[in-house]
Amino acid sequence: MKIGLACDHAGFKYKEKLKKYLSSKGYNFLDYGCDSEESVDYPDFGHKLANSIENNENNIGIQFCGTGNGINMSANKHQGIRAALCWNTYIAEQARLHNNANILTMPARHLNWNEIKKIVDVFLNTEFEGGRHKKRVDKIKI
Ligand code: RB5
Repeated sequence: MKIGLACDHAGFKYKEKLKKYLSSKGYNFLDYGCDSEESVDYPDFGHKLANSIENNENNIGIQFCGTGNGINMSANKHQGIRAALCWNTYIAEQARLHNNANILTMPARHLNWNEIKKIVDVFLNTEFEGGRHKKRVDKIKI
């Protein structure tokens, strides 16, 4: 599994914690920024991560902004992206099972680290169910 990471300033601390967590579990990842808590524009990083998935540098992305909405909206402008804003494990599981989400987006200002770890674990360990869901996912592109 090739994982790409992105965030804005609101998500920087959690992205850094997540890098250590993913390394401890043996995952490889690429970091598309940002690189500090200095104020930045979330689309710059959401687009970088989305491009990396469309170019097959990565097959899964994980990203943060304060609410999750801005960076999620940015990524979802890309035709090859299905970014899911997830704030609990149930939503994360459904995003993989039913939506074949390829980016997990989380609201950094509204989750604690324990919640984030659980959401990431579920997202990375759940496979797309296919079947009737494939037909629906195939209709998302415009
Ligand atoms: C930054 O203050 C904040 O607007 C951003 O992190 C995000 O919540 C936008 O959707």
